[in-house]
Amino acid sequence: MTTYEHILVETPAAGVGLVRLNEPRTFNALTGPLMHELMSALEAFDADEAIGCMVLTGTPKVFAAGADIKEMAQATPVELMQKAFIARWEKLRTLRKPVIAAVSGYALGGGCELALACDMIVASETAVFGQPEINLGVIPGAGGTQRLARTVGKALAMEMCLNDRRLTAAEAERFGLVNRVAPVESYLDEAIALAAQIAARAPLAVRLAKEAVNMALETPLNAGLAYERNLFYALFATKDQKEGMAAFLEKRQPHWSGE
Ligand code: HXC
Repeated sequence: MTTYEHILVETPAAGVGLVRLNEPRTFNALTGPLMHELMSALEAFDADEAIGCMVLTGTPKVFAAGADIKEMAQATPVELMQKAFIARWEKLRTLRKPVIAAVSGYALGGGCELALACDMIVASETAVFGQPEINLGVIPGAGGTQRLARTVGKALAMEMCLNDRRLTAAEAERFGLVNRVAPVESYLDEAIALAAQIAARAPLAVRLAKEAVNMALETPLNAGLAYERNLFYALFATKDQKEGMAAFLEKRQPHWSGE
């Protein structure tokens, strides 16, 4: 397995790829090199036949405190464009397999945006979600305004982005930003268990289900319904559809081949 400097990578359960952000001294500030490693690790898991679902986490104390303020304090717009600062985050959207963020402690700025860019979030009771960029004289740049408006609604998104309103884990659950909240001792195990359950399912159906749900945020209802219908039809070309329905009718467990 590739060795990295800023992240740790492991496979803690069958079918599950885990990436830990590992720069606790700077609260996992999302430097360019760290983001580069993160995207490489996620892309490697995405391409790995043995992996069905990924988990992205930090430490129990901090998920990530945002983009590295030192790294960008003196930047010019031209440098940001030349370095494709933020553009590399777009790779997250091209992953076909699901990614679960396991968030404990601070998820601030780019850290909150990173969690929002994942497909699901399992939070610890200590998680804090916020977009404090306004305190730095800027705004979120990796999807915060867009994804929060779509997730928690316009009113709360405005308060978070304009006035640094932070959400506790319980609030984040109430507003639909996270799937579930668990004690700090067990949030990562819960996220891994959820990932393992998903990884044990029919892989092509999981991928197309992710694609279809994401499409709901991109299209008008008519187009989204047609898109979903076509993916549904397409799955009838898979062995797993035949196996899944045969297993139901024969009252046995299905054995997925991923074909
Ligand atoms: C660089 C950071 C950092 C960051 C923390 N550190 N956050 N370094 N970039 N985003 C560093 C501190 O400088 C310090 O290093 C060490 O981590 C510990 O931080 P402290 O502030 O001493 O700890 P504490 O008092 O416990 O406060 C923790 C904190 C605070 C609440 C997380 O550090 C904080 O507010 N951080 C900034 C959060 C933020 O504004 N995020 C948005 C960034 S902009 P030293 O060496 O001094 O010990 C952004 C834009 C995204 O994310 C755009 C798309 C990419």
